Amino acid sequence: MTTGVAVVTGAASGIGRATALHLARDGYAVAVNDLKLGPAQAVADEITAAGGRAIGVAGDVSDEASVSALAAAAVAAFGPVTLLVNNAGHGHQARFVDLQPTDFDRMFAVHVRGTFLCIRAVLPAMLARGSGVIVNVASQLGQIGGAELVHYSAAKAAIIGLTKSLAREVSTQGVRVNGVAPGPINTPLSAALSEEWRRAKAAQLPLGRMGEPEEVAATIAFLASDAASLFVGQTLGPNSGDVML
Ligand SMILES: NC(=O)c1ccc[n+]([C@@H]2O[C@H](COP(=O)([O-])OP(=O)(O)OC[C@H]3O[C@@H](n4cnc5c(N)ncnc54)[C@H](O)[C@@H]3O)[C@@H](O)[C@H]2O)c1
Repeated sequence: MTTGVAVVTGAASGIGRATALHLARDGYAVAVNDLKLGPAQAVADEITAAGGRAIGVAGDVSDEASVSALAAAAVAAFGPVTLLVNNAGHGHQARFVDLQPTDFDRMFAVHVRGTFLCIRAVLPAMLARGSGVIVNVASQLGQIGGAELVHYSAAKAAIIGLTKSLAREVSTQGVRVNGVAPGPINTPLSAALSEEWRRAKAAQLPLGRMGEPEEVAATIAFLASDAASLFVGQTLGPNSGDVML
């Protein structure tokens, strides 16, 4: 059990929700962030009802003021942030020739700028204390690419690069930075793809099935734990065997 304080972004749904619940069971006090307060607070209430500690915090991770307020709310409620999980994200599919600059910019604003801003909001205090853990949620599409997903894949590849670079910079100062690159996971994000696509994809996976949010949450919780003390700048792949590196 830990008495750490975790901030999980995009935690009202899917992988983020499962991660918030898992970390709360591990003993973390959790700041549950999402775009709207209602869904974030519902997850926080679920944690509290199970005997854990949590607050819901509304905020767009691409907005600097919202991110500052998120970090401040976590510190005010529970004390210094010891774990940041950069999970907030959205999917969007378009052929390259149809891809609009606004779609491209929004993808990078949420995934890359959002990850940057959230780290910026908690890292100085982690460095001052000489300890902290950051886990960034990328995607296997950042490793292998995806047709009609140029902007998504590029943003996720940027997150992998950011993870490696920051890990090289701060690891000797007590802050461990790692990432996960999930394969197809059963969440509202993947449910937007057709049933036909999901069935074909599941059949092609070495494991024969897509992953569940809790299976990614378990990987994130592992990276957050002292058991992962030698993991630095890694991007682990809970991906049903879809990508083997
Ligand atoms: N589901 C998959 O197959 C899959 C695979 C690889 C990676 N991922 C990544 O995992 C992460 C979680 O996705 P998921 O599948 O659980 O999706 P999801 O849609 O279930 O959850 C994503 C959450 O992020 C929130 N969010 C979106 N933009 C935000 C913003 N700007 N600020 C704050 N919150 C925001 C959404 O409201 C939502 O609650 C994403 O980064 C996604 O790219 C998902």
